[in-house]
Parts: sequence; structure tokens; C-alpha cells
Amino acid sequence: MQWLIVGQGAIGSLMAASLQRSGNNVVLKLRQPEITSVALGMQGAQFQFSTQNLPLSQPMHVFAAIKAYSVGDFLDELQQWPLPAGSTLILSYNGMLDNEPSLLPTDTLHWVTIHGAYRDGPTVVHAGQGESWLGWAQPQQASTPTPETILQALNNALPEVHWSDSIQQRRWQKLAMNCLINPFTVIHQCRNGELPPSIRAEQHKLAEELVWLAHQHQLALNADELVQQAWQVIAQTSANYSSMYMDVKHQRRTEIDYLNGFVARQADQLAGSAPQHKAIWHRVRELSLD
Ligand code: PAF
Repeated sequence: MQWLIVGQGAIGSLMAASLQRSGNNVVLKLRQPEITSVALGMQGAQFQFSTQNLPLSQPMHVFAAIKAYSVGDFLDELQQWPLPAGSTLILSYNGMLDNEPSLLPTDTLHWVTIHGAYRDGPTVVHAGQGESWLGWAQPQQASTPTPETILQALNNALPEVHWSDSIQQRRWQKLAMNCLINPFTVIHQCRNGELPPSIRAEQHKLAEELVWLAHQHQLALNADELVQQAWQVIAQTSANYSSMYMDVKHQRRTEIDYLNGFVARQADQLAGSAPQHKAIWHRVRELSLD
């Protein structure tokens, strides 16, 4: 089946090139409907894509690697132009929305990744090998089979991809990674691997606040483990420029409102407090266009 990639940021581009390289038929959905073909470089190879707008006339695997603030608009578009029966929607975005979308098609999947990548003009730089997890976005009946074909295709394109029966837990762990890494790359203006060890104490306080909030959502996280995992991700993606660093560099809106900002707002709403997240949220907003 054909793949449609939505979002031409680092992860969308990485996935488009990786799926095409592993033999899949891939088209791109662009924000500019007048563009009909796109060239992309990765690791010395050139990839050429044609484009496709909604509505789709045939079922496709739709992989949407978009910013958290674009999720609502994209789902509205899908309400207007529903995907043909037999299609699959795979969503991938950093952070959490205050109101996680309830209007998802029942067979929507979340893809959570710790691969590191950034765009350098028409080239995507795969700067950190990571792992990824795929799981149903909504609870399924016990009899629902794992979507093996999709899992296999994604794993062939960009290994390792693991199936997850608790993708929400993975999403919270990823939220923690982004909250503990991305803002510091903006504050210190550096690649992930250049972050100073002195941020560890601050990261631990952020992790503790996140653990409290996750607990309110019936999810168990551990602050020591989160900090340790963050440093593992930093080591794996040491050559990467984080997505937030790149957003600030290119004067684009960052995802800070959906990362540390999300934690701070949620803590307030649940009569708790997350002063460290609130402080770093505002620090990054001052350094960016947000
Ligand atoms: O946002 C990012 O840049 C990435 O999620 C990660 C894993 C922190 C690597 O830079």
C-alpha cells in the first residue's frame, strides 16, 4: 500500500526518505498544494517524491509527523475529507495537548520515537539512532490484531520499532525526554551532546514534577530513571540539534507550550504545582518568538 507523509519537518522527512529507501511507494502532503514534486537528500542519497492532497481516492497508510499545535487543524481536515476505508492513520508529535483529540478514527496509531534528526535545507540529517514504539491511540478490543504489515514496514525503514500495548506510558516518557533536553539546548545554544552535566539537578526537579503529574494520570514514572534515560538519549543523539533548538534558530514557533508548558498548566489545574516547568517554560518563551 502507498504511504502518505504529512509534515516535512525533520521526522517526516526522515520517515519519507527511509520508507522510500526500503522500497515503499511514498508521496508527500504539502501545505502548498501547488507544489507537485519534492527532492530530499539523506546520507548522500537523493530521493524524489510526488505530492498528494486530500481527499484520497484510495486507501493509504498516512504517517503524520506534525507539530502538536497543528494536530487539531489536521484532524479537522480529516473530518472534512475522511480517509478511505482500509487506510491507517499514524500520528507522531512531541508533547501533549491539554485536550487530547477524541475524534480520532478508531484504528489510529501513535508512533513515539527517540531518533534524532534535523533538516539542513533540502537535506535531512539523521543525527542520532534511536528506538521507536508503535501502539493504538485508543483502547482496542482484546481480539484486535497487531498491525503487523505496518510495524514491519516501519521497522524495515527505521529500526528498531517495538509494538507497545501501553503507548500512553511511552508518550509520557517521551514528554519527559523532551522536557528534560529540548529547553536546555535553547538556553545553552548547543547540540544535545554539548549540554553541560551541571543541568542534572534542574533536570531532576523537572522529573519529580512530571512524576507527580503522571501519577495523577494513573501512570507510574520514576524521577531517577527519567534523568538517567534523558542522558542516554543525549548520548544517542549527541550530534543532533533538538527540534526546539532548530525552531528557535529558524524563528519558528516552538513546542514549549506542549512540553514544559503543558506540565505547568496541568499541575495548576490539578491543584498541584510545577514551578520548575513553569520557570523554564517562560525562560524559553523569552528566548523564542512564542
Ligand atoms: O525533539 C527532539 O529533538 C527529539 O525528540 C530528541 C529525541 C530530544 C532528540 O533531539
